[in-house]
Amino acid sequence: MLTGELEQTHLLPTYGPRTLMVERGRGCYLIDADGKNYLDFITGIGVNALGYGHPRLLRELHEQAALCIHTSNLYMHPFQGELAARLKQWSGLDRVFFSNSGTEAMEAALKAARARANQDGRRHQRIIALENGFHGRTAGALAITGQAKYREPFQPLIPDVIFVPANDAPALEAAANEDTIAIVAEPIQGEGGIFPLTTEFLAAIRRLTNQRDALYIADETQCGLGRTGERFAYQLHPTVAPPDVVVTAKPLAGGLPLGATIFSERAGEAITKGLHGTTFGGGPLACRVAIAFLEEVEQLLPVIRQNGAYLHQRLRALQSACPIVQEIRGHGLMAGIELAVPGEKYVEHAMQQGLLINCTHTNVLRLLPPYIIGPKEIDRACAVLHKVLNA
Ligand SMILES: Cc1ncc(COP(=O)(O)O)c(C=O)c1O
Repeated sequence: MLTGELEQTHLLPTYGPRTLMVERGRGCYLIDADGKNYLDFITGIGVNALGYGHPRLLRELHEQAALCIHTSNLYMHPFQGELAARLKQWSGLDRVFFSNSGTEAMEAALKAARARANQDGRRHQRIIALENGFHGRTAGALAITGQAKYREPFQPLIPDVIFVPANDAPALEAAANEDTIAIVAEPIQGEGGIFPLTTEFLAAIRRLTNQRDALYIADETQCGLGRTGERFAYQLHPTVAPPDVVVTAKPLAGGLPLGATIFSERAGEAITKGLHGTTFGGGPLACRVAIAFLEEVEQLLPVIRQNGAYLHQRLRALQSACPIVQEIRGHGLMAGIELAVPGEKYVEHAMQQGLLINCTHTNVLRLLPPYIIGPKEIDRACAVLHKVLNA
C-alpha cells in the first residue's frame, strides 16, 4: 500500500489527506521524496524556529540521546532546573512546570487558577477568554477556545467560561465580575487569524485581573519565544505589567515536544506536592535542547526584529500589488495576510511553487518562518506570493 492509502486506511481522519511527503530538512528548506526543495514559511506551525539541522541543537541532541533520553520526574537530571531558571529570567516570573505541548501547558495554568480559587473558598468561578482565541484540544484548553466549531461537538466542557471580542475593553469590563478567577489571552492571536491585542486591551486585562484577584494568563504558545523579536510577545507592551502565568511550548525544544507553564509565586502557590504531574514532561533530552534553543534565540533577537520589519515592509508592498489582499497583520516573524476570498487554494498553489505556508481562519494566510531567514528568503517568499495571489 502507498503511504497515503495506509494513512487513510489506518488513521483517524483528523487531518484529511496530505499531499507533501517530507524526506528531510536543511536550513530554511524542507525536501520531499523527489528531492524538490520547499522554502518553509510555516515551520511545523511555529515549531522549527531554528530551521532544520541546526548544528548546535543536533550536537546537544546527539550527546544527550547517548547519555539518557528519559528519567521521569522520580529523579533529577542536570537540565530541568537550569531550563526553569532561564525561563524565569526570560519572563521575570518565579516557578515553572514542564509538560509536552501547548495544550498541556494551558491545563496546568487552568488547574492552578482553579486550585487557587478553591483554596480561597470562591464558590462561583468565572473564566474569561477571547473570541477566536485558540488554546489547544484537551478538554480544559478547549473549553476556553473561542471558536465554537472546535468546542461544540465535545460539550459539556468546563462551565462558566465567557468569551469577549478581542480588543473590546468595555465588553471585557462588563464580563469581569467578582467571580472572575482568570482572564486568558494570546497577546497575538494565532489560529484565530493573526490578531495582535492592543496595549489598551492588555492593560485592561491586567487592571481587571488585579481588581478581581484573578490571574492574567498569557498564552504565548505561538507568539512567544522570540517570534516577535521579543522573548515573549507581551513584552512588546512594556507599559503593561507582566502576566501572572505564561504558557509556552511549540519551538521550545527545537522540535522535540516540550511545554512550560511559568507562574508568579502568587499564581502557582496553590499547586502543592502531588497536585499535578506528568510522565514525560521536562525530560533530559528536551530540556537540554531547550537550553541551547534559548541561548541561540537570545543571540538572534536583534536579527529577528530586523528581518521581521523587512518581512512586514515586503508584505505591505504585496498588499498594494495584489487586489485580493485586504490586510497585513502581526509582528516580527509572525504574519497574517487577510484575503478577500478563502485562502486554502493559495496554500496549494504556493506549495507547487516551492513555498510552504498555511491558511487559518478561512481567509488568512499565515507565515511563521524560521528565525534564521534573511532578506533573500523573504524576497523569494514574497515573489511566490505575488505570483500566486495575482494568478
Ligand atoms: C496559542 C496556542 N495555544 C495552544 C496551542 C496548543 O498547542 P499544542 O498543539 O502543542 O497542544 C496552540 C497550537 O496551535 C496555540 O497556537
